[in-house]
Amino acid sequence: MTTELGRLIARRIALTGPISMADFMGEALGHPRLGYYRRAAALGAAGDFVTAPEISQMFGELIGAWLAERWQAIGCPNPVRLIELGPGRGTLMADALRATRAIPGFHIAIDLHLVETNATLRAAQRNALAAFRPTWHERFEEVPDGPSLIVANEFFDALPVRQFVRTPGGWAERMVGLAGDGETLRLALAPGATPFAAFLPEAAPGAEAEISEAGLALAAAIGARLRAGTGWALIVDYGRDGGAPGSSLQAVRGHRGADILDRPGETDLSAHVDFSALAAAMGARTVGPTAQGDFLKRLGIVHRAETLKARASAEQRSAIEAALMRLIAPDQMGTLFHVLAVGDDRSAAPAGFSDMT
Ligand SMILES: C[S@@+](CC[C@H](N)C(=O)[O-])C[C@H]1O[C@@H](n2cnc3c(N)ncnc32)[C@H](O)[C@@H]1O
Repeated sequence: MTTELGRLIARRIALTGPISMADFMGEALGHPRLGYYRRAAALGAAGDFVTAPEISQMFGELIGAWLAERWQAIGCPNPVRLIELGPGRGTLMADALRATRAIPGFHIAIDLHLVETNATLRAAQRNALAAFRPTWHERFEEVPDGPSLIVANEFFDALPVRQFVRTPGGWAERMVGLAGDGETLRLALAPGATPFAAFLPEAAPGAEAEISEAGLALAAAIGARLRAGTGWALIVDYGRDGGAPGSSLQAVRGHRGADILDRPGETDLSAHVDFSALAAAMGARTVGPTAQGDFLKRLGIVHRAETLKARASAEQRSAIEAALMRLIAPDQMGTLFHVLAVGDDRSAAPAGFSDMT
């Protein structure tokens, strides 16, 4: 049994032919009524996945301290646009703002902008962040110009990717078409070599690769804004820093792996972020990427955990320890997730990216 959105996508393919994986992902996640990120939110323990800010308040608190330090590094502009892309329940931002309330002048300067398409999550953000009177946007480009501090945690991984397979005749694009019954979605390779081959590396037949045009366009827009109006951005996501290409698109429903084409609109789709491609597309000074575990340790997460544990019950202490490990341990989120900073090239290097800072 497919979904209403699955039937709509099948009808579109029957009428106009196979669509790219990026088109499929764009519909499956972003269809205005039926897309996964437009329907009820699937975040948190009861949903499809749990993100770092939902694991522990320490994550948002340290990012708050990082943002406040960057605000000082660019001369304490007032106002400063504090922009979050895909804020989920607003947890990261609420923790970041609570942790920075003692920084003189910071909160007075903040003009908060949230880029979010999901109505249920917007309501949760409104509850969490009411005191800062946020402005919501459908797209990053709608946020007014000016000095900016930007944060995006697990946002780029939700942006559509094209997929390619190296055949003996060159790189071919993987498409979504229909099986013989005219209804069931099915993967197939486009005939002939793809024009995207110029952007793909040399590789042996059988190799696979992905390109996120949406991710690269957003990176370029962030870079352009920071060049024009000063500021810094912090991008945290799971992904890779260069290295061999490959396919990473994965489907998750109810904390379990699912088939990519299965139940569109009810299944989360995400792909590893190619950090070296993002950094190149920024067209601005980038620092990192560095592993999330190293970044958080350099910002003092172990010390912060000790402080929290000092006034906690035995049960709370073990929960704090477990959350710390989830965020920093190499076999958990510590090395899979990376952090990239982008920003103003006149200010000193940001904290968290080398043992010197
Ligand atoms: C994986 S969740 C991460 C949420 C949050 N940053 C966190 O760490 O808990 C992705 C977030 O981005 C939003 N989102 C996904 N695609 C979007 C798009 N194209 N435009 C705006 N928001 C989007 C989702 O609704 C959600 O808030």
